Amino acid sequence: MHPTSRQTRELDPIETASRDEIAALQFHRMKRSLKHAYENSPFYRKRFIEADIHPEDLKTLADLAKFPFTVKQDLRDSYPFGMFAVPQSKLARIHGSSGTTGKPTVVGYTTGDIDNWANLVARSIRAAGGRPGDMLHNAYGYGLFTGGLGAHAGAERLGCTVVPMSGGMTERQVTLINDFKPRIIMVTPSYMLSILDEFHRQGLDPRESSLEVGIFGAEPWTNAMREEIEQAFNMQAVDIYGLSEIMGPGVAQECVETKDGLHVWEDHFYPEIINPETGEVLPDGEMGELVFTTLTKEALPMVRYRTRDLTRILPGTARTHRRIEKITGRSDDMIILRGVNVFPTQIEEQILKCAGLAPHFQIELTRAGRMDNMTVHVECTPDQSSDDARAKAAKDLVHHIKSVVGVSTKVNVLEPNGVARSEGKAKRVVDNRPKE
Ligand code: DLL
Repeated sequence: MHPTSRQTRELDPIETASRDEIAALQFHRMKRSLKHAYENSPFYRKRFIEADIHPEDLKTLADLAKFPFTVKQDLRDSYPFGMFAVPQSKLARIHGSSGTTGKPTVVGYTTGDIDNWANLVARSIRAAGGRPGDMLHNAYGYGLFTGGLGAHAGAERLGCTVVPMSGGMTERQVTLINDFKPRIIMVTPSYMLSILDEFHRQGLDPRESSLEVGIFGAEPWTNAMREEIEQAFNMQAVDIYGLSEIMGPGVAQECVETKDGLHVWEDHFYPEIINPETGEVLPDGEMGELVFTTLTKEALPMVRYRTRDLTRILPGTARTHRRIEKITGRSDDMIILRGVNVFPTQIEEQILKCAGLAPHFQIELTRAGRMDNMTVHVECTPDQSSDDARAKAAKDLVHHIKSVVGVSTKVNVLEPNGVARSEGKAKRVVDNRPKE
């Protein structure tokens, strides 16, 4: 499916602007944003002075490499509002990420930031195939998490009818999908699988549902999972990316007509890929850590924020904005098992190859003596629950993981529903190794 002229006319002109136009806009906005950070955020003023750099030193976009990085710890150290570049009275909203340790990371938005965010999510939903007038079921969690309210505002901005369902209450999710007949669903891919199970539990055929487009993100998922969901629901599944520190959902979006990675909305965010060890900027096409500089954020401008997400930058296709390749994992989620790097997405791919296994899984790490062990907890499908079928599936999965990923694992094939379900982001790794 290629964009028809009618669809092209609906795009923001910047979505198909020339590279020169995009670069000129980026340079203008980057300069203004660095100046704003320097003048209004005590954190950045100090950082820039320590690094002996000034916003005036930016003569070309490539000069950004001279500026210092920002990391998550900086937000924690300045908890709650120390990095903000506007007074609290100018903040229209606060969001945060729960994180694993106590205090959340706090981010904030002016009314202008929220307005831009709504426009970018609207642009993302349209790229995914959404249109004004569509009914959209939003199962991203509402609250401090940016998913629910971020998706909500964008859907309203595009002119959709929003069902603000949030995560959880899976039985009701299915009831409302059945009754309201939404064309679009926004939800994490792992929770979509729980919704799929619930369709089956209620004796409904998911392929007969009204859903035509799913906009899935907030966690890594594979093309194999895309295939699984598309087949199960007879729908289009596209990827949405974002992070609260930079904005929330809608930093980058895959187009339904190409499904070839996610276009970074480069009029608002400047992406770089760096070598995570040395911090050196890598050329487009090379794998590394994704780094973002915000170009328009007022409340919380971010300069060279290290996302820890691993990907590479590719040229534009359906849009002129450059793409990031589907994210295979975060450096935080990387398991080093007896010297081999393993990402949960690699395990997901192998599970989806095995007949008789459901797509739910969790990886457990344990230690015996000085040896680290990995156990993959997975489930059989209801029609393959005999002891023989489960033993065969386990053997297949051990074999696939060994031959493709290169590590020996234990596989524990549980009964249907044996693996803990997510209502938002799935917890893929449980580390039961003794703390050093
Ligand atoms: O997860 C924002 C979001 C909400 C994105 C809804 C998409 C849909 P955080 O909670 O701050 O924000 O988590 C951000 O989640 O750095 C990635 O590691 C991961 N992530 C987000 N989208 C994707 C994706 C939201 N499409 C962190 N693929 C990011 C892979 C993703 N990982």
